[in-house]
Amino acid sequence: MPEADEEGKRYEVGQPQLAPGFYLKGSHQLDWGMKNRLARVFDPASGRTVMLAIDHGYFQGPTTGLERIDLSIVPLLPACDALFCTRGILRSVIPAQCTKPMVLRASGGPSILREELSDEQIAMDMEDAVRLNAAGVGIQVFIGGDFETRSIHNMTKLVDAGLRYGMPVMGVTAVGKNMVRNAKYFRLACRMIAELGAQYVKTYYVEEGFETVTASCPVPIVMAGGKKLPELDALTMAYNAVQEGAAGVDMGRNIFQSEAPTAMIAAVHAVVHKNLKPAQAFEVFKSLKSKG
Ligand code: 5RP
Repeated sequence: MPEADEEGKRYEVGQPQLAPGFYLKGSHQLDWGMKNRLARVFDPASGRTVMLAIDHGYFQGPTTGLERIDLSIVPLLPACDALFCTRGILRSVIPAQCTKPMVLRASGGPSILREELSDEQIAMDMEDAVRLNAAGVGIQVFIGGDFETRSIHNMTKLVDAGLRYGMPVMGVTAVGKNMVRNAKYFRLACRMIAELGAQYVKTYYVEEGFETVTASCPVPIVMAGGKKLPELDALTMAYNAVQEGAAGVDMGRNIFQSEAPTAMIAAVHAVVHKNLKPAQAFEVFKSLKSKG
């Protein structure tokens, strides 16, 4: 067992990692199919994405705002860059004529009724993701959780299958109830996920040091939304995340639990793709909301 080393400090946040010949960090040496799928999710013009996360039912059932996905989410599809959902919802509710890229939740197991959520398994075959014309798959990784090793192993098996088919894997940093959410934790979790092969990482925003989380992760990071916040706060968080190096967002509750989800996703889009400042984006939100 090697002796534990001190964490480094030289993040050189002002010096972006090069990706010669491709626009996405850490993706320039991937195969064509993998790059093409990434290009469906991350807009080649801005290099960023607004993913809409609606996979919550995979462990907590009909979450507020997702009781009727046909009514609340299908109308939002034109406004997102990609949808993050389960294969069950994809097959049963999402119209097959929708050409938006679909990223499929590929892990599952314990429900919200259990104390320990890290006891997950791979919940989907890569062949099925290909059959569903997915643009990627996503899986929770519980660094520091009771089933840390299993969740890492789930991800590495998925990455191996993804490499066989050209399917990018999004590793999601899943934070247990008792874990500290700070930059040090997310640097560790994101870096481990990237080192073990995920093509991009979904993680939470932290107010201090988020730029060191993105700088020390060699692949793109998308920001997870987390619990519902007031709209201006959520727009500020998304703005800060992309300004501090995130390649976009994968937000759920802060969009579909908003009092005006269509207005909110448009405002998030402006922040992510057009660098609109939070106050201006909030004006966009209010104006679209008032138009109903
Ligand atoms: C947790 C997940 C979720 O299932 C979901 O995507 C979270 O979205 P949000 O927190 O924005 O509602 O991946 O990490």
